Parts: sequence; C-alpha cells; structure tokens
Amino acid sequence: AKLRVREALGVLDASGERVTVQGWIRSVRSQKEVLFLHVNDGSSLESLQVVADSSLDSRELGFGSSVEVQGQLVKSQAKKQNVELKAEKIEVIGNCETKVFPIKYKERHPLEFLRQYPHLRCRTNALGSILRVRSEATAAIHSYFKDNGFVHIHTPVITSNDCEGAGELFQVEPSSKIKVPEENFFNVPAFLTVSGQLHLEVMAGAFTQVFTFGPTFRAENSQSRRHLAEFYMVEAEISFLESLQDLMQVMEDLFKAATVMVLSNCSEDVELCHKFVAPGHRDRLEHMLKNNFLIISYTEAVEILNQASQNFTFTPKWGVDLQTEHEKYLVKHCGDIPVFVINYPLALKPFYMRENEDDPQQTVAAVDLLVPGIGELYGGSLREERYHILEQRLARSGLTEAYQWYLDLRRFGSVPHGGFGMGFERYLQCVLGVNNIKDVIPFPRFTHSCVL
Ligand code: 4AD
Ligand code: MG
Repeated sequence: AKLRVREALGVLDASGERVTVQGWIRSVRSQKEVLFLHVNDGSSLESLQVVADSSLDSRELGFGSSVEVQGQLVKSQAKKQNVELKAEKIEVIGNCETKVFPIKYKERHPLEFLRQYPHLRCRTNALGSILRVRSEATAAIHSYFKDNGFVHIHTPVITSNDCEGAGELFQVEPSSKIKVPEENFFNVPAFLTVSGQLHLEVMAGAFTQVFTFGPTFRAENSQSRRHLAEFYMVEAEISFLESLQDLMQVMEDLFKAATVMVLSNCSEDVELCHKFVAPGHRDRLEHMLKNNFLIISYTEAVEILNQASQNFTFTPKWGVDLQTEHEKYLVKHCGDIPVFVINYPLALKPFYMRENEDDPQQTVAAVDLLVPGIGELYGGSLREERYHILEQRLARSGLTEAYQWYLDLRRFGSVPHGGFGMGFERYLQCVLGVNNIKDVIPFPRFTHSCVL
C-alpha cells in the first residue's frame, strides 16, 4: 500500500507489511553496511527513517532529492521512533543539486534568510510547521463557527464599496488588451475588498449569524512586521445582539476555542515554533488562555497613557487614534492579558458604528482587542440600526446616495446587530510567537514585493 509518512509513523505494531512511501530526503547517514535516510512528505514534522543496504547506489540519494521507497515497515530499534522502513528498492524521482540548493543540510536557517526563497522555504521544518498550523487554524476557525450556528458566506473580492475607509484601496481594471464596449468594465470604479463587513451585514439580515474568511487587500505603504497588502481576515456579523459585551464574548471564545483546537491537533508543530522560533512563548500563550480578557474604555486608556506620557513619541490625547506604541503599553499595563478597548470617539469612526446614547462625550460602541507582542488583533462594533440616526450620519458624511441599499436594511426589518474582523496572520503570530507577519503566510505581498 502507498502510505503518507504520517500514516506510516502511526502504525503501532509494524510487522513487515509491504509499503511504498514517497517524499524528499531530509538527511542521509551512511555506516559501513547500512544507509540511513530520513524521508519527509510534509504530512508531519517528523520524517520516516529508511534503512537501506549500503550496496544501494547512494550517490544520488542526497539531501533534498525526491524519492520513492518500497520496503517493509518494521519496529525500530531506535528510541525516538516507533517504526522504520526497511528498504528493498529506492528510486530517485528528482535529483537535488545540493551544492546550489539554498537550504543546507543540518543548518537552522533564520526566518529572515528563508524569506528570500518563497519557493523553497516550505521544505524547512520551521515553515513546514508554521504552514501546517495555518492550515489547522483555518479548519479550527471554520469548525468554531459551524459549531455555533454561523453560516459561511463568500463575500466578493471585487467590490464598489470601500467599507468607509477601512483601508487604502487597490483599484481593479481590466488589462489594456481587453476591449470593453463601455469606458469602464463595471460602469463604476471597482476595488479589491478591504473588508466584507457590509456584505455580511446584508446576510446577517437573513441568516442571523454569519461569517466570512478570505483574502483582504490594503494598499498600505508599510514595511512593518504586522502589515501586509494581502492578508486573510476572519469576519463575523451577528443579529439580535444585545450589547458590546455579547460581541466581546464571541471574540474571546473564538480566540480561545480555535487556539485550544490548534494546540491539541498540531502540538508537535506548535512546539517546534515555540522552541526554536519563540522561546518562552508557550507560557505567554497559556497566560492569555487561562485569564479572562480585560475591558477598558477608550477614555480610561487615554488616562492610563497620560500617566506615562514621557514614554511615547506621540502624546496620547482624547479624540486622537491610539498609536502602536500606545497599544503596546496598554497591554503591558494590563499584565500581558489581551485587553478590549471600547467606546471610541464618534469623530474617529465610520458612519456605521452605533452611537452610545447616554455618553456626553459622543462615543460609539466600537471595540478593538489588543494582544501582547502585536497590538490590535481584532476590530469591531455594534452597527447603527436606527434608521433616522443612520440617515443623519450618512448625510453628514455625504454618502446618502451611495448607501441607499444600506439604509434599506434599516427599513425592512432592522435589528440590533454587530460584528468584528480578526487579522488571521496576526492571530497566527500571536499563537506561535512569530515576530514578522511575512513568515506566517505562504506568499507575502507588501510594498515593493510581489514575487512569484
Ligand atoms: O480594524 P479593521 O480595519 O476592521 C475592519 O475592517 C472591520 N470592517 C471588520 C469588521 O467589523 N467586520 O481590520 C480588522 C483586523 C485588524 O484588527 C487587524 O488584525 C487586521 O484586520 N488587519 C491587518 N492584518 C494584516 N495586514 C494589514 N494590512 C491589516 N489591516 C488590518
Ligand atoms: Mg482597526
């Protein structure tokens, strides 16, 4: 039978069954009479040990080559593994030019070095583990939503709305080779989506609880370690929502449930990251998981920051956005427990955020979740469901005409609702302790960089 490496390693009582395994050679060691190979096919961090007679021509059996091995699965004498493959036949499928292969046998390459080779870095343990965790985390998030009665919505990638300044836009136009009868392909300016929120609000008006999880685009001119031009966002929208508290409960639950699932389904891979990429991070993560997330208001946050204003380049001030340095300080101040900052000044936020009625300071029911080492992980809010208030806010922003359809939602069975967006790459950074966002996405896109 043909087995993946993971399946072969999982055979508990190997007793000589004939199997075929395919993969890439991760190590070669030859002794007098035997040759030891380790073969990895990406199904697990661990490789399968292959034992061969040294009479087998070993010249081509080099690090990085792809091979097919036929043989018998037997109990291993070695301590570290349960089974090994006694080779009867090894076929080199594709030889690897080891001398010029940028990934070197037995070396631990820094993530920064590997970033130069987006087409090869997935063959290393570090990227292998990170990307398997990414895959598991995707599944965990989907299963959280499925278990909690959310409908998955494919929101469009191309859209004519900009979600009111959620981010800088990339405009979409056909290539100049295409002859379009009209001047403009869509008749209106079209953009890559910066957020699926408004489409989710439409759907929450029918399915009550919805989510989307897809690529999101922002033309941010930033080389920072937490910004990408293309990233994945997890967004949810919930109807009949009573309070910001209820929304924050879902945000916290999602973070914790997905993380617990990843830790249990992918423990080896997570461990590798914690050990080699971010020593000490496991404890920081456990600390986040076992504590209730904290809640402070924007006004309280500004007060806390003002007490420490000598630490900052930008002086914190009520009515001005929090800077990254402020976010970092707040999380430290909160004992490295994730903290929700709520009730932001109305003037800082888009028209759709719900106005807090009894606040003399004119705030909206907005929420950001700040996490250790990263800063903002989530952004969300209650949405303005009251027709007349929304109408005025739109008019003040000069958007009445463009958002008639959005006002309609408040005319035809409006309900209190709210939602959030979580940056998926920042989530992975937070779980794994990876410092640079470019290392948790297979093919990072950022200013001046769109290779492959
Ligand atoms: O705070 P943001 O802009 O929120 C929204 O777009 C809302 N409309 C979402 C909603 O309520 N449905 O973005 C949400 C999150 C941020 O908190 C951050 O984690 C992530 O998306 N994010 C980025 N991640 C990587 N690179 C970028 N350039 C990002 N911009 C935002
Ligand atoms: Mg935000």
